[in-house]
Amino acid sequence: MTKTIAVTGAAGQIGYALLFRLAAGAVYGDEPVRLRLLEIPPALPALEGVVMELDDCAFNTLAAVDITDDPRTAFDGADAALLVGARPRAKGMERADLLEANGAIFSAQGKALGEVAGSDIRVVVTGNPANTNALIASTHAPDIPAARFTALTRLDHNRALAQLAARAQVPVSTIEHLAIWGNHSASQYPDATRATAGGRRVLDIIDDEAWVREHFIPTVAQRGAAIIAARGASSAASAANATIEHLRDWVHGTSGQWVSMAVPSNGEYGVPEGLISSFPCTVAGGEHRIVEGLEIDTFSQARIDASVAELAEEREATRALGLL
Ligand code: NAI
Repeated sequence: MTKTIAVTGAAGQIGYALLFRLAAGAVYGDEPVRLRLLEIPPALPALEGVVMELDDCAFNTLAAVDITDDPRTAFDGADAALLVGARPRAKGMERADLLEANGAIFSAQGKALGEVAGSDIRVVVTGNPANTNALIASTHAPDIPAARFTALTRLDHNRALAQLAARAQVPVSTIEHLAIWGNHSASQYPDATRATAGGRRVLDIIDDEAWVREHFIPTVAQRGAAIIAARGASSAASAANATIEHLRDWVHGTSGQWVSMAVPSNGEYGVPEGLISSFPCTVAGGEHRIVEGLEIDTFSQARIDASVAELAEEREATRALGLL
């Protein structure tokens, strides 16, 4: 059965790193994929060029590519929607301006999803501010279960994995039980307290308490800014990779492994109900579940609370703008 994946902001830099892998089967394997690409009208000519390149790859798994500037056309009958397109923060723009500009985009896209997508669609919001954009879209699609709206913190998770693996000198693939909590922003809490590698506690292997607070947490939380400083552009290939891994694991499951996903809170760990916050999650049977019953130490809870407070503020600011 052909799977339909809608991608917004498809002519952007993440789009360019994302589409070719989606077309080659990175999420649905050998199943044919139809790509529905949404852009704003000025970006459609560039998007046509990207489609020419997709054609020129002659992927066996690519059944069709449609481009449109109408969210209803893009999301109609989609199995998954990757909401990547967003308004970047321009010089002099206040946070409220950013929330307002993106609120307009994500409320319209949420409404369109509610009108034309099935209730089993999977929505992954990558465009920033990702958690709050996901909340706005979900609010405008009341007929789609809230759990179907998620935001991307897998890039933060992968960044944390890479830092830990390098410092502990273990392969990335051996690390388990790592978690990102809170907002996809500098306030996030990358939590290595339970991480293990080959059954050993990673922090015991590293044996350097100061490194976690002084290096690990700030490096992961500020990695986006470090990449902009080095590359002159924000992370794109790694963000595309994380978006694919998030959707792939949501579709196929995690076999009990933890992954970080920003999903609606039911009040777990003191996170107010309804906020879309990052948690350690597992996926089975196509449903994500927050890992429950973890003992959280005082330092970790304070870090989680601080990031969640930022999410609550974003929700309030969005409400004040009439977007929720
Ligand atoms: P970009 O500026 O290269 O591309 C964004 C694209 O979105 C543009 O082509 C633009 O025309 C399009 N767009 C704008 N409004 C749209 C709308 N209403 N409908 C459809 N398309 C629209 O940006 P890039 O680098 O691809 O990043 C995209 C977003 O992803 C940004 O918000 C960025 O901050 C975010 N991001 C999130 C990460 C995460 O881990 N959650 C990591 C890296 C980036």
